[in-house]
Amino acid sequence: MMVNSLSLCYHNKLILAPMVRVGTLPMRLLALDYGADIVYCEELIDLKMLQCKRVVNDVLSTVDFVAPDDRVVFRTCEREQSRVIFQMGTSDAERALAVARLVENDVAGIDVNMGCPKEYSTKGGMGAALLSDPDKIEKILSTLVKGTRRPVTCKIRILPSLEDTLSLVKRIERTGIAAIAVHGRTREERPQHPVSCEAIKAIAEILSVPVIANGGSHDHIQEYLDIQDFRQATAASSVMVARAAMWNPSIFLKEGLRPLQEVMQKYIRYAVQYDNHYTNTKYCLCQMLREQLESPQGKLLHAAQSSREICEAFGLGAFYEETTRELDARRAELLAKTPGEVEEPAEDTSGEHTHPRSLPRCACWSGAGGRSWHSPCMKRFNAPWIAFSVLLSLLLSKSTSPLCGTSPRNWRSRLRPSSVCGARAFLRVDWVRRAPR
Ligand code: FNR
Repeated sequence: MMVNSLSLCYHNKLILAPMVRVGTLPMRLLALDYGADIVYCEELIDLKMLQCKRVVNDVLSTVDFVAPDDRVVFRTCEREQSRVIFQMGTSDAERALAVARLVENDVAGIDVNMGCPKEYSTKGGMGAALLSDPDKIEKILSTLVKGTRRPVTCKIRILPSLEDTLSLVKRIERTGIAAIAVHGRTREERPQHPVSCEAIKAIAEILSVPVIANGGSHDHIQEYLDIQDFRQATAASSVMVARAAMWNPSIFLKEGLRPLQEVMQKYIRYAVQYDNHYTNTKYCLCQMLREQLESPQGKLLHAAQSSREICEAFGLGAFYEETTRELDARRAELLAKTPGEVEEPAEDTSGEHTHPRSLPRCACWSGAGGRSWHSPCMKRFNAPWIAFSVLLSLLLSKSTSPLCGTSPRNWRSRLRPSSVCGARAFLRVDWVRRAPR
């Protein structure tokens, strides 16, 4: 995958803000559907990304960045390629550049988080800690600007003094960044503190690069028209929305908010299609349901322990079955074209794995956080797993067994991921190997 244009325009844009746990692929695609022009991924830490391998997932048609423990850390697809911004947490220029190079062919821009006030971020010198180290900011941004083919941006908070804020942003601008997102609160302020439209405005007036105003959810932004008002109040080029979009991503729709049920169903469909991990799906749906978490549907969601159960809570059981069947068929088809599918993948020279043997495990049921069936761990423990599987099959042959008398794909659907994850992973491998060619 290559982005056609190397430069992304940050003028006059509606932007989905970076949000940890919220800004995964389903949410980004949904925001794009509803009219967002640019979508940020959740902040991903440089050290974690540097452990990842880039894997082309032919089953899902995605590109996955997979950690050594086979968890998918970042998943993206062609649909968002020209509009997704990769946000990283970093405190080191060389590491930042290495991450940018790793992802640059799959994203439209690179952003550095300089606003996160949480201890886990600031302790490592990342996030808002950078705001008190302008030399480091300069080093990181200028290294990125020189070294990557994508536009580079950063997201900051304001400083207690306007004068200091203005001198910082001018210094940042000189590094050659393409735009700057400004959350109009200081590092110490929480969401309940009013956002300073005046500070954002002063920044927008002094800089030549586009300023992206952020911090308006709740007090200023509750529907689409408010976004325009916030833009005017801050004199910014563009507006970035976090919480209001997390509560209802149709905030980006000119025609106005869509009913939450419709939005959640759309979200779930993407989550299933892109094999999002059910815990992440559940988290995002809980953010949307908010006050309705005590409703019958909220309680079902709360109890759900798999994507299937989430789908059932939202009347999408049939959709789940159909989609997973299609993904299974696709995988089987790819494997059928692939001789010796259980051998070691070929030596990686390009950093890309197009071979179905390399498909992350989550392609079927685990999503981010899942294990890949080609994992070295699975290979190493294959023999014990076979013994375990035989034992398990014997045990489960009792009539009371949830797996009794069903096809392998029904076994899977009856097993709860949390309880028998390892066994399930093996059954899946076994079944894939036996898939007709
Ligand atoms: C955030 N925020 C955030 N910021 C950032 O730069 N990187 C991140 O990964 C996150 N993660 C995150 C998660 C969640 C759940 C929330 C609510 C917020 C901050 C966010 O991008 C934004 O700056 C603030 O929420 C203010 O914007 P709104 O909410 O007023 O539109």
